[in-house]
Amino acid sequence: MTDTSAELTVDEHLREDEWFDSISRDCVDGLTSDPKWLSPVWFYDEVGSRLFDEITKLDEYYPTRAEASLLADHAAEIIERSGADTLVELGSGTSDKTEHLLDALDATGTLERYVPFDVSGETVRNAADRLIDRYPGLRIHAVVGDFHRHLGEIPQVGRRLVAFLGGTIGNLSPGERSPFLRDLASTMSDDDHLLLGCDLVKDHETLVTAYDDPSGVTAEFNRNALRHANSRLGADFVPENFEHRAVWNGQDAWIEMRLRSTVDQDVDLGSLDTTVHFEAGEELRTEISAKFTPARIDAELTDAGFVVVAMWTAEPGYLLTLARRSITRQE
Ligand SMILES: C[S@@+](CC[C@H](N)C(=O)[O-])C[C@H]1O[C@@H](n2cnc3c(N)ncnc32)[C@H](O)[C@@H]1O
Repeated sequence: MTDTSAELTVDEHLREDEWFDSISRDCVDGLTSDPKWLSPVWFYDEVGSRLFDEITKLDEYYPTRAEASLLADHAAEIIERSGADTLVELGSGTSDKTEHLLDALDATGTLERYVPFDVSGETVRNAADRLIDRYPGLRIHAVVGDFHRHLGEIPQVGRRLVAFLGGTIGNLSPGERSPFLRDLASTMSDDDHLLLGCDLVKDHETLVTAYDDPSGVTAEFNRNALRHANSRLGADFVPENFEHRAVWNGQDAWIEMRLRSTVDQDVDLGSLDTTVHFEAGEELRTEISAKFTPARIDAELTDAGFVVVAMWTAEPGYLLTLARRSITRQE
């Protein structure tokens, strides 16, 4: 389905009910697995989005600030090196940090088009309305879709810089990451560039504190996944019976957010017609956030068919990588 106005086109490749069915199936799979897991998509309803926004402003949560400072410092060089006139952004969310790139494109006079791509139609529409006011003449071609399934639907127009920011790549499991990057490379032309933002491995205390702030905002964000399941599915989670945990898993080089059941309890999943049992002390994994080294990013991008053009890092350890397609890669 496509909605069009003078400046804004929205292609919908994901219907709300279809997306809801798919995350509901995942919910049953995850909560009946051993160990239990729940997809991070359950964090995000209106309250969850507001809590995430609060997290990004916490002193302990360095990734957003580090990435914004890298974009502020290097956007002009990124735009010059990519030669782009079209900015595509995967998992664009509120498109806040994107303004550094749009400003740099605007300054070189090459800004033609912005293509935000996200599962949340409401979020991309809100961001598009704000950006159309801020950049008169900018054409926005938004895509509502799942980046595991709909990368082929991204408009093939202009010379494109494809940004994937916010460390979202780290929320993909290694088994998802490799096909995702290969698919992405296969949709890009030789003139296109990829801009990837990812968090780096660092001392464990800094990492764990970023996901377990003393003011408890991240704990509320984590428990919001249960409140969201209660309101969407009619489940009967008692969020207060679950304790927030952030754990560094050194073997897999990722932070795990977990919810630990403080009591023996049964939870009815409402419309999913399933009841799940939690032992006291049993943990439910709600998110992984992989942390990288520059060498690992280089290796994974090379393996997927990219060549790294430049890398920039910021304290306390965050990486922006500019890459293009390798001409020797195999389709
Ligand atoms: C961690 S937020 C990052 C948002 C923004 N890029 C930033 O840096 O602040 C991840 C974003 O990716 C979107 N997202 C998550 N899974 C997705 C998927 N499978 N396909 C498309 N978008 C997805 C979410 O809706 C959310 O807006």
